[in-house]
Amino acid sequence: MDIIKVKDHEELNSVAAKIVIEKVKKNPNATIGFATGGTPLGTYKKMIEDHRQNKTSYRNIRSFNLDEYVGLTPENPNSYRFYMEKNLFSHIDIQKSNIHFPDGTKIDLERECTNYETSIKRFGGIDLQILGIGRNGHIGFNEPGTPFDSQTHIVELTPSTRQANARYFMSINDVPTHALTMGIATILKSKEILLLAFGEEKTEAIHRLMTGDIDEKFPASVLQKHPKVTIVADSKALSEVIASA
Ligand code: PGA
Repeated sequence: MDIIKVKDHEELNSVAAKIVIEKVKKNPNATIGFATGGTPLGTYKKMIEDHRQNKTSYRNIRSFNLDEYVGLTPENPNSYRFYMEKNLFSHIDIQKSNIHFPDGTKIDLERECTNYETSIKRFGGIDLQILGIGRNGHIGFNEPGTPFDSQTHIVELTPSTRQANARYFMSINDVPTHALTMGIATILKSKEILLLAFGEEKTEAIHRLMTGDIDEKFPASVLQKHPKVTIVADSKALSEVIASA
């Protein structure tokens, strides 16, 4: 695992954006796995700035997002599709037909999961997967206990994840109960992983990810097995790792 320690959120955004931009410049047809949540927002802002200033083109990249709520349409401001349009896709030149999400409005969700997995494979897999991390070690919506061999699947969200995400909704009752997510095996198949973490609320999670037992009880620990993971984190998120080194 490569660790890049940054001094603040601003630097995290620049460093992470640079990694994505360089990947896209090197391979204009790259398949990028995107994440939502608070952490990558600034990274996407930097990518937009760079696109405007330096004309980095995303025209031929393919995107696959990690997850989506069940029951929310792309027009719903709380859907992850909406988030990506608002915070990145509508500001860069990615082609609509190259954007992929698991569709949580499909009647046959099992089939949608299989189709999503097939679609990722058809494009040769994900070249670079961006990840955040939950305090409980979740990656995507893979909560503790998710089998390491899981593919894209339907999950029932835990009360703590629904609570954490309630800040984006009118009330916790509006937070969907289920989501579709790439599985742990799907994520592990990515050729390269870029995990971003910021602040003391992620300290324990980063410590367990890097030094804990590889255990399904803490999904992110599986990343220890991946050959090419870069963690970009600030000194607060890294403080326990540094203290125990
Ligand atoms: P956050 O979420 O970026 O909003 O902290 C990360 C996650 O829960 O995966």
